[in-house]
Amino acid sequence: MDNLVTRAAKDLAAANHVVALTGAGISVESGIPPFRGKGGVWEKIDPMEYAHIDAFMNDPVKVWNVLLKDMKLLLEEAEPHAAHMVLGELEKRGSLKTIITQNVDGLHQRAGNTDVIEFHGTFAQYKCLACEQQVDSAGIDIREIPPRCACGGIWRPEVVFFGEMIPPQHLWRSKLAATECDLMLVIGTSAVVQPAAFMPVIAKESGAKVIEVNPEPTPLTGSISNYLILGKAGEVMQAILDAMP
Ligand code: OAD
Repeated sequence: MDNLVTRAAKDLAAANHVVALTGAGISVESGIPPFRGKGGVWEKIDPMEYAHIDAFMNDPVKVWNVLLKDMKLLLEEAEPHAAHMVLGELEKRGSLKTIITQNVDGLHQRAGNTDVIEFHGTFAQYKCLACEQQVDSAGIDIREIPPRCACGGIWRPEVVFFGEMIPPQHLWRSKLAATECDLMLVIGTSAVVQPAAFMPVIAKESGAKVIEVNPEPTPLTGSISNYLILGKAGEVMQAILDAMP
């Protein structure tokens, strides 16, 4: 790992336009479980039964009780950790321009990053299914499930459920960022959910270096990524920052 950390530090120092693609793994050290693998959310519940838009519309009480209530509480408690802070620092130093995140936890913004594309939406905002009013998370009272707007409609988080479109402006901006970068950091994603997992492919085809940080290989490893640094996001990203000139 040490050699690759040094190599990544050099590559990052030489890059002018860095973009990061992040997934659930970057927030594991903040206490938020990933979706796949050991201890993953989809190991305990079936995403088609609880995270598909049809499941939510058919039975919002069930989806709120089993998935959304706990996620809202967990995300409200979570704090950014070293990996998020290092990305904040890389933006301050001028090289990191944009983060494309599949996460809905808002931790990149809290670590100081200002251009964060929330590819799968956010838990920070909610919309009423009836009157379409939008409110911040703090305005959602979950003492009664489902939480309801003053008009009587049910609140939904502004996340992308399975079966829903990626907001077109997010997809468009992400493709542009992937095209424009000369280095893409791919941190903590299993890279199996499309179209997010295609962003490193676009980056690579546009001539960028692609560096993965993950405790496990992914479908990008050995094909799209130039190299994979095996390890936890916090440790690896801190080591890279420390090794930068
Ligand atoms: P996954 O849960 O699919 O993958 C998490 C990845 O993080 C795996 O590759 C792990 O090896 C890695 N990982 C685990 N711990 C880590 C650590 N400490 N540091 C770095 N990496 C670590 O999460 P995503 O790839 O984000 O979509 O999943 C993509 C989408 O699938 C999610 O946005 C969500 C889910 O269904 C929606 O909800 C629409």
